[in-house]
Amino acid sequence: MKEDLSKINTKTYNLEKIFSKAKDFLPLYGTDYVEFYVGNAKQAAHFYKTALGFQSLAYAGLETGVKDRTSYVVYQDKIRLMFTTPMLTGGEDIHDHIKKHGDGVKVIALWVEDATKAWEETTNRGAESYFSPKVTSDENGEVVCSGIKIYGDTVHVFVERKNYKGTFMPGFEKWESNYNPPNCGLKYIDHMVANVGWGEMNVWEDFYNKVMGFANLITFDDKDISTQYTALMSKVMTNGNGRIKFPINEPAEGLKKSQIEEYLDFYNGPGCQHIAVATNDIVSTVSDMKKRGIEFLSIPDTYYDTLLDRVGDIEEDVITLKKHGILVDRDDEGYLLQIFTKPLTDRPTLFFEIIQRKGAQSFGKGNFKALFESIEAEQARRGTL
Ligand code: FE2
Repeated sequence: MKEDLSKINTKTYNLEKIFSKAKDFLPLYGTDYVEFYVGNAKQAAHFYKTALGFQSLAYAGLETGVKDRTSYVVYQDKIRLMFTTPMLTGGEDIHDHIKKHGDGVKVIALWVEDATKAWEETTNRGAESYFSPKVTSDENGEVVCSGIKIYGDTVHVFVERKNYKGTFMPGFEKWESNYNPPNCGLKYIDHMVANVGWGEMNVWEDFYNKVMGFANLITFDDKDISTQYTALMSKVMTNGNGRIKFPINEPAEGLKKSQIEEYLDFYNGPGCQHIAVATNDIVSTVSDMKKRGIEFLSIPDTYYDTLLDRVGDIEEDVITLKKHGILVDRDDEGYLLQIFTKPLTDRPTLFFEIIQRKGAQSFGKGNFKALFESIEAEQARRGTL
């Protein structure tokens, strides 16, 4: 175990070299928002406020003149999440999405300087259009959006908001609520992970490379990510400024069913597996979220017996990390702390990761084994291993 991990610790990430490979025809400022299609947007928004510390931001529905859907937008620091549910008439695509996938991520919206150019550049390079550039306006200015299709039924929407001063975007009103639980210290989206089908990882690597101008940050093969029973492969794609990172997973052969296969079965195809959100104080964030009812994967106590031998000096108290099941990994530039929730939906599909980076830019390769054994224990309980 120690030998393996010492090899990992010598892995260097030449970020400047990697970023220079990314093309700049599609400058991205960051994630604009993430939209979920859900069975009940009102209750989903309440859950994310109560259990994860999000704050009310914007609303669209019958009261604002929208008849086919209802959307609630919540935020925490730089993170914006939208929950959308279909109404009685119209919104068939939302009904279909929920019937097929359960609650899940539909839109990964990206903040751009020019949504028209973003759509032209990507569709010219082979992306399938979701919708062509569309201007909406109100008394606060205008927003331009366009969209392209990605894996499964998921899409990217490009959002240009340089001429807009309002709360969120035209069509939404500010959501004033009397219920405002405190935040949990979540800051921004660190990465969002895709699960794709057998043999599709390279297809989507190619898509992000050719259509979006992303570069490959790191590749994990099935030997990197496997336990005695199950395996997967992953490639992490990044844009040129490193603000957008999309790891892409596909299942690999193992003695038992890969967690990626389980996801594909229950989500009924490819989709977003997890959203990693950053905090500056993971111990405080996690203990707060536990009090609010969020369940995290549990990690065997033995993981902590040799933790300091593997990762060297860390500022945190190991007993506290063990109590919460927080994982630690190190690369040349520093270390990171991370923990994973159990699925936040009834189907074993979408979950969240809480991550605190202390220099390290990597993805916790040293934690894969402990993490996957924990996921396998959950799969066994669900009868899907
Ligand atoms: Fe992650």
